Amino acid sequence: MKQIVAIDGPSGAGKSTVARELARRLGYIHLDTGAMYRAVALAAGRARIALNDINALDELCREIDIGLVNTPQGLKVTLQGEDVTLLIRTPEMSSASSAVSSVSEVRRHMVRLQRKIGSGGGVVAEGRDVGTVVFPDAAAKFYLDASVKERAKRRWLELKERGIEEPQENVLNDISARDHNDSTRDDSPLHRADDALVIDTTSKTPEEVVEEIFLSVKELEAGCG
Ligand code: DC
Repeated sequence: MKQIVAIDGPSGAGKSTVARELARRLGYIHLDTGAMYRAVALAAGRARIALNDINALDELCREIDIGLVNTPQGLKVTLQGEDVTLLIRTPEMSSASSAVSSVSEVRRHMVRLQRKIGSGGGVVAEGRDVGTVVFPDAAAKFYLDASVKERAKRRWLELKERGIEEPQENVLNDISARDHNDSTRDDSPLHRADDALVIDTTSKTPEEVVEEIFLSVKELEAGCG
């Protein structure tokens, strides 16, 4: 039976790389929940909505159309039909998305959408609260972690590859600030679900992590998990 695979963890732990490849190998949908909060942050910026204006953000979430399209090149994110895949990946959008994601009204809208996407199973969902709040009944739950230094290095390289030059120290500070925001907010803070398997990715390749999760999901699919 097709499963819901929940992958949580802090920024830079390798969730996206692993989720993308895992979804491809399993023939599942890749559901990047962080991309949805990033799209909300972009839409809020464009509408000149302050990131703490709860009513305006609530209203915005009712109106906007966020699309996640799985393509052979990876996940394409759309906002009102416009391809915003790259626009949501800037350092500004990283911190703005962390801010909007602490607003409960925003989370309520996003979680509803995420559950709708995952309703048929066959989904690899990654984020911060996927195993704890969005899909608490998922049988396949993983919590990816890595040292903050390693995570900052990965994020720095990723930005560099996209042509965004940022001092390594800034990236480390940004990651630490987001770790703090994401794990101390009142609503659905980042924490490991009791039944999630922790994988420390610090000295593992993405391929190794994918293989480990892939085998465990295949066992569950076969009904012997
Ligand atoms: O995974 P990411 O870095 O693209 O996520 C962007 C922000 O969204 C991150 O700072 C935390 C937030 N987020 C969240 O609160 N809940 C999720 N399920 C996914 C992301």
